[in-house]
Amino acid sequence: MTFNPLQERGIPLDRQLRNWRELNVAPIDPDRADPYTRCRIITMNGIEIESIMFSHHFARRCPDLEVRQRLAEVRYIEAQQQKAVNWLLPGLASVLETTLAYEQVAVDLTAWVARMEPDPYLKQAYQFGVLEDFDHLYRYANLYEMIEHRKAEKIVDQLTEVMPGRPTKMHHRHPVDNVREHYDRETAQAISKLHALTVMSAEQQTMNFYMNVGPMYMEPIARQLYQEIGLIEEEHVTHYESLLDPSESWWEQWLNHEYNECYLYHSFMETESDPRIRAIWELHLNMELEHLRIAADMFRQHDGRDPEQSVPRELPKPVTFEPNKEYLRELLATQIDYTTLGTGYVQEAHERFQRWQEQLMGGEEPPSERVIAENRAKSGEEYRLETEGTHPLYSLRTH
Ligand SMILES: [Fe+2]
Ligand SMILES: [Fe+2]
Ligand SMILES: [Fe+2]
Ligand SMILES: [Fe+2]
Repeated sequence: MTFNPLQERGIPLDRQLRNWRELNVAPIDPDRADPYTRCRIITMNGIEIESIMFSHHFARRCPDLEVRQRLAEVRYIEAQQQKAVNWLLPGLASVLETTLAYEQVAVDLTAWVARMEPDPYLKQAYQFGVLEDFDHLYRYANLYEMIEHRKAEKIVDQLTEVMPGRPTKMHHRHPVDNVREHYDRETAQAISKLHALTVMSAEQQTMNFYMNVGPMYMEPIARQLYQEIGLIEEEHVTHYESLLDPSESWWEQWLNHEYNECYLYHSFMETESDPRIRAIWELHLNMELEHLRIAADMFRQHDGRDPEQSVPRELPKPVTFEPNKEYLRELLATQIDYTTLGTGYVQEAHERFQRWQEQLMGGEEPPSERVIAENRAKSGEEYRLETEGTHPLYSLRTH
């Protein structure tokens, strides 16, 4: 079954406005919901926030009043979509529980993208990044056990393992080494552009989330851990955004954004386990088809090209949340000691890396190390969820 979003008809823009009653979505039940439903909600919130912020940046650079008005009209609908999506999250969850879900998204979304990405350089970028968010999950899970006396499997279930990845303290690189080379908009496959936009949006929302919620805890170790990981999410946004070709015109970027929204709502409509939530993905897909039509018209008018030169004629295979345990174990076994040098990857700590580390650490252990030591002291042992056996690396096993 093929689906060409450029040929489908959506809901006319003047019929997309929702009233308070329609916006007032019932949240998911935190104890019964599929963890991957929560992951899809978080992903789409990141996508909608990116679409809103992109549209604002575009409007700020655009002198044409009519275009600015059109952007404002579509953007208001994106803002309603963002409310409807993010308000599916239950008010009952603690900040730390939502944090664990954000890192689960980063792990299973990035791992899936890495598996599907056809371009080897881009694939390497996702493989590199996923081992870091995998470690963040482990650090936050230990904080969760220590201060909320609960186990992370309450959130991630048995779907995602929790154990050390590339140690968080090794993620603090010189900023120059976080900038990758970008794909070429002329030769890159369409799926590669969509992957880059998706992962960049997810990491950006994680960065924004930690910047804002980090100081909401009283415990010094919690405040400090959010600072440390928040700085790494800044590195991750730099890493992933640098993959996108900066010479795409504003019109082309708008087209790619709307197309990606269609792709993801369609993906989640196909893979959603909760029928009530599936209806929301379907409704939003029908809105996005109209946004895409508008962006495609603008692209034809202002860039003078055919939209099918930039986006695929047929939606790629749906983005799927599913366990990636074996894939991650294989990456742990082979890439854990990687770091970056310039736009490439190396296995040894180089001078620029070491200088940055010394200045940042100031002769102390970082919060990400202390949280494990403190939880061991408090709970008797550190928290892990190893469903497929011991850690693939002997040195990272609990002895
Ligand atoms: Fe949207
Ligand atoms: Fe992370
Ligand atoms: Fe990240
Ligand atoms: Fe949209």
